[in-house]
Amino acid sequence: MERAVARIDHDAVRANCARLKSELGEAELCAVVKADGYGHGAEPCARAALAGGATRLAVATASEAEQIGRLDGVPLLTMGALTVEEVDVALGAGSELALWREEFRRLVADRARAQGVRARVHVKYDSGMGRLGNADPGEVLDLVRACAEDPDLEPAGIWTHLATADELDSTYFDEQLDRFEEVATVVKADHPEVLVHAANSAAVLRDRRSHYEMARCGVAIYGLDPFQRDPTEQGLVPALSLRSHVADVKRFPAGAGAGYGRRWKAPVDTWVGVIPLGYGDGVRRALTNNAEVLVRGRRHPLVGTVSMDNITIDLGPETDVEPGDEAVLIGRQGEEAILAEEWATRLDTINYEVTCGISTRVPRRSA
Ligand SMILES: Cc1ncc(COP(=O)(O)O)c(C=O)c1O
Repeated sequence: MERAVARIDHDAVRANCARLKSELGEAELCAVVKADGYGHGAEPCARAALAGGATRLAVATASEAEQIGRLDGVPLLTMGALTVEEVDVALGAGSELALWREEFRRLVADRARAQGVRARVHVKYDSGMGRLGNADPGEVLDLVRACAEDPDLEPAGIWTHLATADELDSTYFDEQLDRFEEVATVVKADHPEVLVHAANSAAVLRDRRSHYEMARCGVAIYGLDPFQRDPTEQGLVPALSLRSHVADVKRFPAGAGAGYGRRWKAPVDTWVGVIPLGYGDGVRRALTNNAEVLVRGRRHPLVGTVSMDNITIDLGPETDVEPGDEAVLIGRQGEEAILAEEWATRLDTINYEVTCGISTRVPRRSA
């Protein structure tokens, strides 16, 4: 019995990748394992993703690239903006890099020469995300040309990122793809070896047009629904569960308060269970009086203030729950399940933030 643990079902990650790969056909699947695999543990998830059909990996930062490295020689892309020092770290890890400015292109070429390597680079076109990337198609084409002419660089990709793939009624999605295709077509004509990629998880599930030659999928490989609905509707299997146990069961007379500020008071005589995890573990304080916890296969309301190390649940006027019983905050127990998407709705956020928010105090263990 552990105080709190995140159980990760790596078979689920493998199956989710196989599911995405079945949509992608010939196009490659690049598994995005940044932010410690969206809170699931980067390396074991990367290995499971490769077993499920992914052929490439991506991270956001140089230190993530350093941690993962070239697993079994699989190509790794560092997608984020990098400082000079970080370029050295990412290149040292054998990673491919993103670039979108001439000055940075020259910097990468210099650092690659200094390391005695040829840097493989993905030129990023900002087709409308309004974040990283170059929004000028002419400059993007010039950059690809300059990379191809530079002996220290090898153009490996032309890519973009989509702002509204998860909004199914958005026409902006198609506008971005239209803009991207214009640029990618010219690049591809001159450099057929360059990989064209745009899709994230939502785009893969939404529209084959966005698949091109590779898709960069994060959220769906962990069995989280990019549309914030029930992942099983998309044939995805949630990989993470957050588990603890009932540390104590105590009788509350009507009117007794639970936790800081007495933000819940027992409406009638009742039993309250104390579970030893809290916002220090990623159970956000906004879940105060606003969540449910599974014990003995039944939902029990989280009552009172979420504190750093403890939460309390109302077990009702009569209960068979005992100290030592397993408590499931996210995941399945018996016939019941609580999805990360349920927390996201309660917290007015997205499932990505829920799993990334489970703190390092919670060990990740294979299910
Ligand atoms: C540039 C880029 N590509 C791909 C992804 C993967 O997106 P998703 O997790 O929605 O599949 C991300 C994640 O945010 C990203 O930043």
